[in-house]
Order: sequence, then C-alpha cells, then structure tokens
Amino acid sequence: MSGKKRILTGDRPTGKLHLGHYVGTLKNRVNLQHEYDSIYIIADLHMLTTKNTPEDIAKSEKNACQLVLDAISAGINPENVQFYLQSAVPEIHELYTLLQNLITVPRLERIPSLKDMARDANIEMPYGLLGYPVLQTADIICVQAHLVPVGKDNLAHVEIAREITRRFNNLYGEFFPVPEALQGEEASLVGLYGKQKMSKSANNAIFISDSPEEVTRKVMKMTTDPNRISADIPGRVEGNPVFIYHDLFNADQTEVEGLKARYRTGTVGDVEVKEKLAVALNNFLDPFRERRQKYEKSGVVEELIVEGTASVREQVKETVYGMKKMMGLTGAWNRIRRRAERYQKSKSE
Ligand code: TRP
Repeated sequence: MSGKKRILTGDRPTGKLHLGHYVGTLKNRVNLQHEYDSIYIIADLHMLTTKNTPEDIAKSEKNACQLVLDAISAGINPENVQFYLQSAVPEIHELYTLLQNLITVPRLERIPSLKDMARDANIEMPYGLLGYPVLQTADIICVQAHLVPVGKDNLAHVEIAREITRRFNNLYGEFFPVPEALQGEEASLVGLYGKQKMSKSANNAIFISDSPEEVTRKVMKMTTDPNRISADIPGRVEGNPVFIYHDLFNADQTEVEGLKARYRTGTVGDVEVKEKLAVALNNFLDPFRERRQKYEKSGVVEELIVEGTASVREQVKETVYGMKKMMGLTGAWNRIRRRAERYQKSKSE
C-alpha cells in the first residue's frame, strides 16, 4: 500500500449523475485522485433503505455500471481509483453490526436528511434507514479512510462517522482514523427551472451523459428572469439559472461578462444567452464524452468493479479482524476454541 492518505466516497446506484453531482462532489473527487489513494463505493445496500422492490434491485445492476462510467467520464482515472460493490463485501455487515452500539437512537433520529429521505420515498422510517449513517460509517472505516468528499446532504452522516470512530477509539483503543468530510465549492446547483435544486426526481437535471442535442434542448427550455417579458427590458443576472450555469461552466468568462452587461441593460435576448450556454456546456462535456467512449464496451467497467471489489474485500477482512481483536472478541473465541479442543482430545484419550 502507498503511504498516501485515503479517500472513500461513492453513490447509491439509483441513476445517472448530473451536473449538480459534479459541482457538489465529483469535481473534488477528480481533483484529489492523485493526492489520495481513492476508493469509490457503489452503495447498493444503502439504496435498499428506500428502494428495495425486486424492480429497484434489478435496475441497480445497470446503474452500478453507469455510475462507474459517469465517474470515469468526469475524469476519474481508473488507474487511481478502486471501485467496489457494497453488497459483494459481506464483511461490511459484520463491521456495521459492531458499530451499532456506539451511537444512540435519539442521535440518529435528529438527522434531518434521513427524515427527508423517508418523506420523499413516501414511507415511514425503516429501521435500516435510521441506520443509514452507521452503515455509511462502516463503508468509510472498513478501509480506514481519512477523507470523504460528499455533497451537502451527507455532511451529517460523516459527522456520525466521526462520533462513532472517536467512541470506538476511546472505548477499545486507537484504531480508526477520524474521517473528515469535504464538501464541493458549490453546496448545491439550482435545477433548469430555478427554485428547486437539480435532481433526477425533480426532472430538472442535465446529466453528464446527455448528448449534445439533449443538452441544447434542455438549455433552451430553462427558466430565466421571470419578470423579463421582452428582450429590451433590463433583466436580473443574480439568481438567474442561465447565468449561474454560465458562471460555473463557460470557459470564456469574457463572453459571460459581456452577456451579463447586455442582459442588465436589456440589449440581449434570452435565446442568445441560452444558445451560448448550450455551446459552452457542450464544450465542457465534450471531454467527458470522449473518455466515456473508451470504456463503454461491455465488460470493461465490470472488470474494474470485480477487481476493485476483490481488493477491497481483502482489506475489509483485515480491518474487521483488527477491530475484533481490539474489542477482545477474537481472544474470547480463540480461548473457547482451544478449551473445546483440549476437552475433545481428553475424551478420546
Ligand atoms: N450516502 C451516499 C449517497 O447519498 C452514498 C454513500 C454510501 C457514501 N456510503 C458512502 C458516500 C460512504 C460517501 C462515503 O448516495
């Protein structure tokens, strides 16, 4: 193993990644891949906390491969990163169980994101969803990770991971690094029609796998300044989704400044601003498309997942063993076994 510090991050295999994911966390993951030893989880067990029908589960296979492709297309080099499928590492469950007494139910009940997830899924809080951050802690510490790049809604979960690791280290002795969260510069990205943040379920997302035509079509439908009813009246740039995207994704900031100035004085139409945005976004996404193409052949990302999972599983076994040793669980089992063996021998003598 290299002496580098370690990143653990990932997503649930529930769908394609969009530009909101990119600015929220993916960009950080891409930038840090050289500095850190990175592991990327495909969290299908986490998906089960809100989506557990056979249909949901059937979809997760394709989504898992899609996630890896999305990550690679965004610039994650598979040479630097190990991908693993959570449900294929059964030792995670063992670790998860060992953590469950290091955090209280009221503490978990206070986490707003879990309530939001239950509400959005139209369900009462399942036991598993309450434990979502504890399972996430298992993911993070099973590979002894130091840094966890996540979006805003996951910050509270990493806080739980910090509390659990501190508690473990205090109770049984120093073993786990206390992980730190890293949030993207943009906490969240507004969706195509303003107001709501970009999300798959709100139908207001540009996916990083969208074709140039899709991107253009979506941009032309965007909401701009609702008070500007014609191109010759001054418009508002601040909080205007079209300009938020221009600021974030247009490489030609001189063009953006020019458009803003004309927008403010009522000398540019929405159509021109949008057409230029579509071009800028497609320029931004073209390298994504090129990288994606190289990995699209069937079996290529699958091989990455299989190899990554095997390697991570070995590491997790070691972690669980070390952890049980710290807790005194391996010692007890070994002594019991030895006494049983001695007794069996004495019977046959
Ligand atoms: N909770 C993350 C999400 O919102 C997915 C996830 C599961 C995760 N385990 C993790 C992220 C560990 C970072 C670290 O999809």
